[in-house]
Amino acid sequence: MKRLLVTGGLGFIGSHFIRLVLTARQAYEVINFDAVTYAGNPANCADLKTHPRYRFIKGNICDSAAVEEAAAGGVDAIVNFAAETHVDRSILDPDAFIRTDVLGAHVLLEAVRKYNIGRFVQVSTDEVYGDISSGASTEDDALRPRSPYSASKAGADLQVLAYWATYETPVIITRGSNTYGPFQYPEKLIPLFITNLIDGKAVPVYGDGMQQRDWIHVDDHARGVLHALEHGEPGNVYNIAGGNTRTNLEITQLLVESLGRSMETHVTHVLDREGHDRRYALDCTKARGLGWQPEVAFEEGLRNTIEWYRTNENWWRPLRSGEFKEYFKRQYLKRLISA
Ligand code: DAU
Repeated sequence: MKRLLVTGGLGFIGSHFIRLVLTARQAYEVINFDAVTYAGNPANCADLKTHPRYRFIKGNICDSAAVEEAAAGGVDAIVNFAAETHVDRSILDPDAFIRTDVLGAHVLLEAVRKYNIGRFVQVSTDEVYGDISSGASTEDDALRPRSPYSASKAGADLQVLAYWATYETPVIITRGSNTYGPFQYPEKLIPLFITNLIDGKAVPVYGDGMQQRDWIHVDDHARGVLHALEHGEPGNVYNIAGGNTRTNLEITQLLVESLGRSMETHVTHVLDREGHDRRYALDCTKARGLGWQPEVAFEEGLRNTIEWYRTNENWWRPLRSGEFKEYFKRQYLKRLISA
């Protein structure tokens, strides 16, 4: 039996990863270590609560005593999904990003070193490469992050690689593209737009909406991380993308039409995000060389995701009250007024 310490396992991608591991691998047990922040939602793993190979520990990755306690009982690998992830929030308030994304990764690396843990997988992002106008980023490209979020993730990546170079800590980094699917907190483009449109509200498109993102279904992303854990070479980085490049306007149109609304009445162009990256694109030759490839067709994945939000209002409605309303006002009021 192998024991995985999965940090941030109550989040969007982390919870799918844990479910994948418990279903597809009988020889793994999982400790889910999560701080239960606004986006770390116990409901994301409610179905796993009584699973015999699953255990939950509430803790913050910046708290070295708590991390050490979780790791001390014997852990074969740590997979780090814990992070502050929303670019717009990082522009409003960068502090939490530096703390969780940079300091948190450092605390985990120290635990890996102290307890001789066999693998550390850092789940990172295509945003560390920065805006690229053409071509696709490969793992050896320079990091040119341009938001407090992506700079924090790049800071963590550099720490992780430095631990490999300096201490031969057996690390692996995955850099994923824009991820979508069930259980995504409704502040990100796709779930925000779906839930707005279900309620008949307009959706706020930043600037001209011609920015490009490459979309990957969360199940493909989770499979990519598991693949890197099991087959990746220590000291290496693996890009993981779906190969579904779309402009934000194309995504908006798909969602608006699928939900029976119209572009004229349900789309508002609002003030652009500061420093908004126009385009990301990843070359995934290296991950494909390990035998991984995305399996979910984009239109089908998006259709199923819309259906999931339609039939799981009891999951997302409570999330759109309280803290979310405050955030929404802070984030969008100025944008809407200045639009
Ligand atoms: O690329 C991977 C990254 O994808 C992850 O590392 C991040 O954690 C994740 O948040 C995501 O970052 P983005 O900034 O690309 O995702 P977001 O859903 O916030 O925005 C997607 C695009 O849609 C982006 O160009 C901004 C635009 N957008 C977003 C929101 C929330 C809008 O036009 N209106 C909106 O209200």
